[in-house]
Amino acid sequence: MARTKIYVPRETAAISVGADDVAIAIARHAKQAGAEIELVRNGSWGASWLEPLVEVLVGDKRIAYGNVADADVADLFATGLLAGGEHDKRLGPINEVPYLISQDRWTFWRCGLIEPLSLDDFLAHQGFKALEKAFEIGPPAVIDAVKASGLRGRGGAAFPTGIKWQTVADAPGDQKYIAINADEGDSGTFSDRILMEGDPLGLIESMAIAGFAVGASVGYIYLRSEYPLARSILARAIEIARDAGWLGTGIRGSGFDFDIELHVGAGSYVCGEETAMLESLEGKAGIVRYKPPLPAHQGLFGKPTVVNNVVTLASVPNIVNLGGDRYASYGVNRSKGTLAFQLAGNIRRGGLVEKGFGISVRELIEDYGGGTASGRPVKAVQVGGPLGAYLTAAQLDTPLDYEAFTEIGAMIGHGGIVVFDDTANMAEQARFAMEFCAIESCGKCTPCRIGSTRGVEVIDRMIAGDERDENYDLLIELCDTMEHASLCAMGGMTPYPVRSVLKYFAEDFASAPGVDQ
Ligand SMILES: Cc1cc2nc3c(=O)[nH]c(=O)nc-3n(C[C@H](O)[C@H](O)[C@H](O)COP(=O)(O)O)c2cc1C
Ligand code: SF4
Repeated sequence: MARTKIYVPRETAAISVGADDVAIAIARHAKQAGAEIELVRNGSWGASWLEPLVEVLVGDKRIAYGNVADADVADLFATGLLAGGEHDKRLGPINEVPYLISQDRWTFWRCGLIEPLSLDDFLAHQGFKALEKAFEIGPPAVIDAVKASGLRGRGGAAFPTGIKWQTVADAPGDQKYIAINADEGDSGTFSDRILMEGDPLGLIESMAIAGFAVGASVGYIYLRSEYPLARSILARAIEIARDAGWLGTGIRGSGFDFDIELHVGAGSYVCGEETAMLESLEGKAGIVRYKPPLPAHQGLFGKPTVVNNVVTLASVPNIVNLGGDRYASYGVNRSKGTLAFQLAGNIRRGGLVEKGFGISVRELIEDYGGGTASGRPVKAVQVGGPLGAYLTAAQLDTPLDYEAFTEIGAMIGHGGIVVFDDTANMAEQARFAMEFCAIESCGKCTPCRIGSTRGVEVIDRMIAGDERDENYDLLIELCDTMEHASLCAMGGMTPYPVRSVLKYFAEDFASAPGVDQ
């Protein structure tokens, strides 16, 4: 008798709400019922609000059940789970779930679909096809496809990826590197993690394509220490790829050598800044370097290095397979392609939504996110991590387009969207921005190191009602100094959230509860 396939995600968010217990309960009940099942631990589809999201393969359909608890499993078996039976938790076929069906899943299409550590499953879903095609068409054609796609860096700075790759390809030197930024430190972001846990072999393939395109033989993944599951999944995936000849010397008869080393950071936000990351990879303290030289000219160990974010790189295999123009057909203006937006904070349906650029913040929050979890009105939304400006409710129709965001003094960054309802005190958030900078500053330059500490003090005086107008002017001046005189975006962009609070939520300084010193 054929075994029934049941999928239970092995992904950090799903596990945090009980997916492992659900998997154990399913195995136990199947045994008691004498049912033959194959339990597949897939990645997450990104609909975090539905986790644990269990699926059962019935015929050629995967029938989904959302928010399954281990206590539900007996009832689910009793109502015919194995045949996709009716139940309060039944959502219907996974490919008809509205949250997922309307997305543009270019980069995350395998997440949730496949078993992350099954090479067979990966190969059955286009795995390594793009690398093989890259070997056929050659490095210049790969770089041309990336240029034609209009892909820009998804780590924060939105620099054109094709130009970066061309610069490294053109740089003289026998040894070049690919360094993947998996530090994912921005508040409310988790897309790198979902990809690494759900499609690790896809990231490995992407790195090999980048290495082939620019002439690099070694790739490093710089992974944040807070991602232990991603660490073990990636480590195993690297072994699997190596054992099958997709990494190592002369990959699959191509003559191209490429291998990957996994490096775990030590919990510093600024180590996500590319030059601090390179210092850390070299075994030094994570302190920002002066630029120039650019990492593309003198990066890791002084050699030409491509530094790319996980999501940037993972967008490339389909660009090679389907063509840069296809990717560029998504999005608007100079913001081409898709971005994996991440809905977090006070939101009813938190999770990952991959959509073409141009969708508005409101559409994401209301249509996908279902509004605030509290049911209260949205007061502010922080897009782009802790250095991103707070948008007001009136700005929510702004399209997600890099340039449109620049125009309103905001940024898209890594696509994190953190929602606050009308009970939030924004003066406290301005203080938090400065305090975060003071704690995470690498200390190399004065405006950031000293300015952020002084910034906290000035905000505290404003909250206490001490010469509020004078301190307001002082804070504006301090923000100008930090923005224009800091060495990197840590000190240079901390003023963004602070200024947005001063501009749109200044009245909150009068009602902030203050902070115990
Ligand atoms: C303080 C700071 C933190 C950053 N953190 C990250 C991070 O966690 N992940 C990331 O990919 N990029 C981060 N960046 C951006 C990187 O410096 C760099 O632009 C990026 O890794 C380049 O890859 P991309 O072109 O694919 O985006 C950070 C930048 C700054 C200034
Ligand atoms: S701005 Fe801050 S984090 Fe960046 S180099 Fe200066 S001190 Fe370091």
